[in-house]
Amino acid sequence: MSGFHASQCGFCTPGMCMSIFTSLVNADKSKNLEPQNGFSKLSVSEAERAFSGNLCRCTGYRPIVDVCKSFASDVDLEDLGLNIFWKKGDKSADVSKLPSYTLGGGVCTFPDFLKSEMKSSLDYLNDSNVAVSREGWYHPKSIEQYYYLLNSGIFSDCSVKVVVGNTSAGVYKDQDLYNKYIDIGGIPELSAISRKDGGIEIGAATPISRTIEVLKQDNDSMSCPNGSVVFRKLAEHMSKVATPFVRNTASLGGNIILAQKYPFASDIATILLGAASTVCLQVTSERLEVTLEEFLEQPPLDPSTLLLSIFIPHWFSDSQKETNVIFETYRAAPRPLGNAVSYINSAFLGNVSLHGSSSDLVLSNLHLAFGAYGTEHAIRATKVEEYLTGKLLTPSVVLQAVRLLRGTIVPKEGTSHPEYRVSVAVGFLFSFLYPLVKGMTGPEKTLSIGCSSSVEEASLPLSSRRETVPSDEYKPVGEPIKKYGVELQASGEAVYVDDIPAPKDCLYGEFIYSTQALAYVKGMKFKPSLASEKIITVVSANDIPSGGQNIGSTFMFGDEPLFGAPIAEFAGQALGVVIAETQRYADLAAKQVVIEYATEDLKPPILTVEQAVQNNSYFKVPPERYPKQVGDFSKGMAEADHKILSTEVKLASQYYFYMETQTALAVPDEDNTMVVYSSSQYPELAQSVIAKCLGIPFSNVRVITRRVGGGFGGKAFRSYNVATAAALCANKLRRPVRMYLNRSTDMIMVGGRHPVKAYYSVGFKSDGKITALHLDVLINAGISPDASPIIPDTIISGLKKYNWGALSFDIKLCKTNNTSKSVMRAPGDTQGSFIADAIIEHVASVLSLDANTVRQKNFHTYDSLVLFYPESAGESSTYTLHSIFDRLLMTSSYLHRAESIKQFNSCNNWRKRGISCVPLIFKVAPRPAPGRVSVLNDGSIIVEVGGIEIGQGLWTKVQQMTAFALGQLWPDGCECLLDRVRVLQADTLNLIQGGLTAGSTASESSCAATLQACNMLTDRLKPVMDKLKQQSGAVSWDSLISQASQDNINLSSTAYWVPGQESSSYLNYGAGISEVEIDLLTGAITLLRSDLVYDCGKSLNPAVDLGQIEGSFIQGIGFFIYEEHETNSDGLVVSDSTWDYKIPSVDTIPKQFNAEVLNTGYHKNRVLSSKASGEPALVLASSVHCAVREAICAARKEFAHSTGSGSSPLTFQLDVPAPMTVVKELCGLDIVDKYLENLSTHQFQC
Ligand SMILES: Cc1cc2nc3c(=O)[nH]c(=O)nc-3n(C[C@H](O)[C@H](O)[C@H](O)COP(=O)(O)OP(=O)(O)OC[C@H]3O[C@@H](n4cnc5c(N)ncnc54)[C@H](O)[C@@H]3O)c2cc1C
Ligand code: FES
Repeated sequence: MSGFHASQCGFCTPGMCMSIFTSLVNADKSKNLEPQNGFSKLSVSEAERAFSGNLCRCTGYRPIVDVCKSFASDVDLEDLGLNIFWKKGDKSADVSKLPSYTLGGGVCTFPDFLKSEMKSSLDYLNDSNVAVSREGWYHPKSIEQYYYLLNSGIFSDCSVKVVVGNTSAGVYKDQDLYNKYIDIGGIPELSAISRKDGGIEIGAATPISRTIEVLKQDNDSMSCPNGSVVFRKLAEHMSKVATPFVRNTASLGGNIILAQKYPFASDIATILLGAASTVCLQVTSERLEVTLEEFLEQPPLDPSTLLLSIFIPHWFSDSQKETNVIFETYRAAPRPLGNAVSYINSAFLGNVSLHGSSSDLVLSNLHLAFGAYGTEHAIRATKVEEYLTGKLLTPSVVLQAVRLLRGTIVPKEGTSHPEYRVSVAVGFLFSFLYPLVKGMTGPEKTLSIGCSSSVEEASLPLSSRRETVPSDEYKPVGEPIKKYGVELQASGEAVYVDDIPAPKDCLYGEFIYSTQALAYVKGMKFKPSLASEKIITVVSANDIPSGGQNIGSTFMFGDEPLFGAPIAEFAGQALGVVIAETQRYADLAAKQVVIEYATEDLKPPILTVEQAVQNNSYFKVPPERYPKQVGDFSKGMAEADHKILSTEVKLASQYYFYMETQTALAVPDEDNTMVVYSSSQYPELAQSVIAKCLGIPFSNVRVITRRVGGGFGGKAFRSYNVATAAALCANKLRRPVRMYLNRSTDMIMVGGRHPVKAYYSVGFKSDGKITALHLDVLINAGISPDASPIIPDTIISGLKKYNWGALSFDIKLCKTNNTSKSVMRAPGDTQGSFIADAIIEHVASVLSLDANTVRQKNFHTYDSLVLFYPESAGESSTYTLHSIFDRLLMTSSYLHRAESIKQFNSCNNWRKRGISCVPLIFKVAPRPAPGRVSVLNDGSIIVEVGGIEIGQGLWTKVQQMTAFALGQLWPDGCECLLDRVRVLQADTLNLIQGGLTAGSTASESSCAATLQACNMLTDRLKPVMDKLKQQSGAVSWDSLISQASQDNINLSSTAYWVPGQESSSYLNYGAGISEVEIDLLTGAITLLRSDLVYDCGKSLNPAVDLGQIEGSFIQGIGFFIYEEHETNSDGLVVSDSTWDYKIPSVDTIPKQFNAEVLNTGYHKNRVLSSKASGEPALVLASSVHCAVREAICAARKEFAHSTGSGSSPLTFQLDVPAPMTVVKELCGLDIVDKYLENLSTHQFQC
């Protein structure tokens, strides 16, 4: 992980290592070919799937893929990205430099001490052999023991859960604690596999991963040429269920029971139903065999029934009767490799044979199963089956089947995207039937010479080019050295707040939050439950000490209360904190709260920007923060040949999804002081909020932040509530209190990116040159000002990347009864830049011009750049956008690919591609920062800086800067210094004025402060050096420090770097190009390729900067495509788990991803000529959105044409995000029907 720069905040890194390790161990056991020395049996494609169940929010996955691929026996070393084993420019990758892998050797097994610990924790029930572990887990070893237990009365007055893998706790989160568990996974009969003549019987407790193995083995051993198509397809489909580690524990039977008891969107129930499976049940003393269909229709099971096994029959083609078995399964889900439940899934089985002596085909014995579409359980579409059976398959027959299907698939009320699901069901049936019908083309049929081929989901190997240009002018600054402390991250030893051992008597807290907006909180009760019994106390606004304030967050524009008292102002506002002895107790207890609300005398809450406008509910933007208009809009409009008036564009919110949720540990200390360990990007301000809340001097509060497990802006102003609440609880109880928000609470309470709605009016010439733009922008800022008053400026800054001629705007910062929105990576710039490109695309489509031509037509000249960015444009030599864009077009073969895409689109009905290039101009403003460098007597060096290590590599750059700056005493630098540098955690009572780590510039500011502090030290050391040189020639670092210490030189220096007028803000440049493919039947988006070029000035560490660029780009893809941030009618966030909020995973990133960091030489006023890298590239992900729009345009053109329905509008609104459901909707929910109607009509006419 360290060698491939594959770790940033490091929070996900141990999990990644474990997944990679598991895949290596599994590959060792496989039948794969023996690898060459030093490699494992793992193949590249297995490596790419190794961590498909893991999430990382920082890296963008690419370097982690490289790590895993570096073990693979079939790896192409040239394909591995930037690493420390060989340098760019080395003739060839040197395999001997890679850490070697010992096949089967050194593999750990489950440690013996843990095995014996588990054994010793078991007791046995008096008169039976049932094992009981001390925590109330019962482990029957037979079916008899199970029923013995059940009937023994042990569980008569307590809650009990029967489990195998207990992964259902991740599906239906436990609402309360259970007293007891019965683990039936140890009953041998439930894990038995028995092969029978007619099929295979699989024990219900068999893990899904084992089931996949068994099905594959059986398929391989079948005598018929293609094995069993049914078993093969079932195994393939099951490999997309959940994640690898869930599949390892989750049982086959557990899944079916979930599907039987609840309306669970199971894949397994659907595909087994399609395969005509039966199940064997034990109902107390009786055994029953029923079809899966009958079983699913029974009333929900109770513990007196056990599912024993599932029987899957063999289906073989019969050459004598000339019938072939056909079987297909389908799923439409937000992610191709699983880790996401389906919107709809299906499995179709049937026999196909020739109709008499004709060459036409007929179907028989059909099983058409559909599930997960908002149904109680998977069903068979029997009417469709009956209709199709024995019919000659023609387009009109398929059309009639589709119509019948539309009447069968009826999602329950309240199901999201109901029309989408029905239309995908139609698409699945069409995909199954079209190969059997003459004259019909389907998704995989239509390739002809000259067209690039279509991709199968997740089949294309991932590949990457990662280019950087290291610079050795300021060595080791500029070198791609490995990340500081990466080994600690990879091994799991790095200490985050939650890893700090709990101090004695530590208690745990969880927020109680409001579920209503704008309501009096009249009372709070807890439901009688096991969890409620665990409550020690509830801390609320009443516990704020006298002299303290109800304050939970602050910034220069105002405060936000810690608790909603007496009024809950928004859904998600904290009302109190439940305190318990463990975090789990506190979490579950908080769910038992019942809050009494009252709304008399209160106006309805303001939840939308439109309501804010109606009610004049705005935050003030200080005049000096309000962006400046450019030119004369009316004049510009008068010059225009064409106009687009008042057109809407809309962007939703985005949740941070840092891997480490908000957390703090507060420890009361002597003399009314408080130590708070906080995961914060701004400890200095956390200190002040805590002090104000407790009514004590700032000097009584010490906030310590070592490292943050991902921030992205969410741990700036949004981290104080947790730190302050923990401190308040600790203050009241005089005991340490830890709070570590669970994911759901974090998602509901924390807020995120600002949703924006904008209306644009634009005037332009016939050649695409824009003459004037006016924008009306409504920003939903939520309940408190937070940092929102800076957003108008950043939106307009992002928008100004094009020369609009004249630019005017009216921006309203709406105050609403929603969670406060705050800064999130590239805040405002992301929205502004996207709006700019949406306008360009609209203009291009009106003029029927290539969007790229219109873009380039409106690029800034240096003069217009100065006009639009008067304070930050810098010198003309630093304006690199034109050369970057040209370079990108060239290196990515844009023109050639655009041509191939046209060809591809003309040859493929059901898949379309799009490509788009997006430029970037991104303003940043470095802030003041402190730094202290101290040299200890043994020559080791400690550095303290204001900036926080949040994964952006700040410590690494500071380490490099220290080594460079102190090394200046030697003409060629001092080699040994890098390893001597230790960067310390932030401590608000040690180094004051630490400031905010955000806005991409904290690393360079901290480096600048470090450089200043080091320069002070070198000034002091220089005379000592000169003296020593005269005495003995060469001088080592050790001798220098030893002498300096003897000479009583002050070996510690502190600097406070303040950017000068000229360095107070500057522009960053880059460009990105993305190519996508969309599937018109499901709306699924495949990112085929992205290329980025980014100007880092002289990068301080190209590996770190490249990681930032790639990671932010992928986070941007999440925003533009995948992440749907939904709220209910009260404004309560309902996408509150990984279940319904999908950040990018490894299978959703571009298949080919090339990123290049340019080294553009000397940049006056920058820290050693470097430029920022943390945020800007996120904006470039809008290239994916634009490419999706292009592909949708191609689809709409196609169907306007092929269905004969006249012209289809090519200007349409594609909001952000644009997930597959939206894509499908815009391509047409009825395109299959129309296509079939069209074919049927033609057929009839013929
Ligand atoms: C993150 C995640 C993602 C998932 N994604 C998918 C997906 O994409 N598609 C999909 O189909 N599924 C998905 N699942 C569901 C998963 O497959 C099931 O949770 C799992 O198979 C249940 O098995 P288990 O052994 O953990 O059951 P448990 O959780 O132990 O039990 C589940 C229920 O079944 C009962 N039970 C279990 N075995 C028996 C038995 N033999 N007889 C009687 N009752 C029994 C239990 O009492 C309990 O009520 C996902 C789950 C998770 C956690
Ligand atoms: S490094 Fe993966 S989440 Fe931060």
